[in-house]
Amino acid sequence: MKLFLSGLSIVAAIFILGACNEDPQNVDKKPLNPNGDSELAILMREMFDEGMMMKDMIKNGDHPEVNVEFQKILTAEATEPEKAASPEFKAFAQTYINTMEAMKDASPEDKLVLYDTMVENCMTCHEALCPGPNRRIKKLKM
Ligand code: HEC
Repeated sequence: MKLFLSGLSIVAAIFILGACNEDPQNVDKKPLNPNGDSELAILMREMFDEGMMMKDMIKNGDHPEVNVEFQKILTAEATEPEKAASPEFKAFAQTYINTMEAMKDASPEDKLVLYDTMVENCMTCHEALCPGPNRRIKKLKM
């Protein structure tokens, strides 16, 4: 019984770690874990998609708006709730929120700088807490 249970928790751990250790080949297969995707994972995908749109717009000299509900990063339910409850996560999340708040009213030139800062914010938190998606996040770089 004990052996069975530890086997089960290994399987569970593999699924739970999924979101942070994505196989880039499997990026388009959804959902990534059997319990459905967490609110935080869905929000992150929206952040990524909007980031790709912003990158194109800035490159074309347009001025992107921020539509993603980035404040939710602090409250969205995560695949690993203890990770999102950690002081590191909260500090990185607040830095990202500050960048996005500044982006809302920024001049076009400032938006370009803030965009680079945003990508750094994504990557810093991911390097520390969730390295898997960084391969994908690198595509946001100008
Ligand atoms: C404060 C830390 C933090 C910041 C900042 C952050 N992320 Fe994440 N990200 C996470 C965590 C933790 C997960 C795992 C979410 C889960 O599974 O519940 C994640 C998951 C992801 C995923 C995988 C989602 C999936 O399909 O499962 C992508 C893609 C992603 N983030 C992109 C980004 C982008 C783009 C940014 C910046 C615009 C960003 N992240 C900023 C912590 C962060």
